[in-house]
Amino acid sequence: MLERSAPGKVILCGEHSVVYGRPAIAVPVAGLRARAQIEPARGGLRIVAADLGEEFWLRDAPVEQPLAALARLTLEHLTAAEPDARLTVHSELPIAAGLGSGAAVSVAVARALVAFLGHELGAKAVSTLAYEVEKIHHGTPSGIDNTVIAWEQPVYFVKGAAPEVFTVSAPFWLLIANSGIPSLTREAVQGVRQRRDAERACYTAYFARMGQLADAARQTISAGDITALGPLLDENHTLLRQLGVSLPALDRLVASARAAGALGAKLTGGGMGGNVIALVCVERKAAVAEALRQAGAVQVWETLVKEDGLPPRH
Ligand code: PMV
Repeated sequence: MLERSAPGKVILCGEHSVVYGRPAIAVPVAGLRARAQIEPARGGLRIVAADLGEEFWLRDAPVEQPLAALARLTLEHLTAAEPDARLTVHSELPIAAGLGSGAAVSVAVARALVAFLGHELGAKAVSTLAYEVEKIHHGTPSGIDNTVIAWEQPVYFVKGAAPEVFTVSAPFWLLIANSGIPSLTREAVQGVRQRRDAERACYTAYFARMGQLADAARQTISAGDITALGPLLDENHTLLRQLGVSLPALDRLVASARAAGALGAKLTGGGMGGNVIALVCVERKAAVAEALRQAGAVQVWETLVKEDGLPPRH
């Protein structure tokens, strides 16, 4: 049996504004992964979505079934015939939580299928395959999720441009706190679009400022000035509230993290639920995690954002 995996991700700065061409910064979350296992079997490709308790033959799956779509795109890209195999997918990532679960599953499945067929594909090709499936999940995705997950490195991302991997001069800790409220990115993105169409000048200014925050965040991370990163995250959260994608439950988590000594905190991903992130120094990590739980987080994870990102782990 062969296994490949892919990490989750968090957006540090620039969600939503990235859809309108502004830069954003995202980092992989090494400890939360989607995994795809594949082994020889008979009768075609059998796909098992273990967490959902579903399994089906590739030939019977509808076009919009995301795992089947990814498998078909991958086979087409490799000009390979459907293998006789059983492909089982598991994910440690919460679904609809802004942590990139859909893209992580796609990347893990593409990697497993490619390896099973004896091929190799680089991050760019895998990211492109996953992007096609992101369109099924999200409608008009910027491409940031599939990019950071396929590269497994912190990335500075502008829609339509090659992602830039940048230096992380000093490692820093992030806490990721799950509100337990499902976050539907597609709906959050549509809501922002409607409000932006009604108040274009105002939203253009919000997006421009969010882009400046992403640029400033990249500079502070490259310079190793982590203390200066906190206020940038705080201001990004204020802007996301102004876009209308926060919720009282998310604001409460953000406020509790700051009150317990986080350097900065914000919602991450599409919003309207999902997760918040808090930037913490190691001495305050446990206290901030406890404060987040007290404020209603159903799960709290920690991740260390490191120099050079992460070596790809399969
Ligand atoms: O909710 P997530 O993790 O899928 O992140 C979406 C990020 C957005 O900027 C809101 C949408 C996008 O396509 O970039």
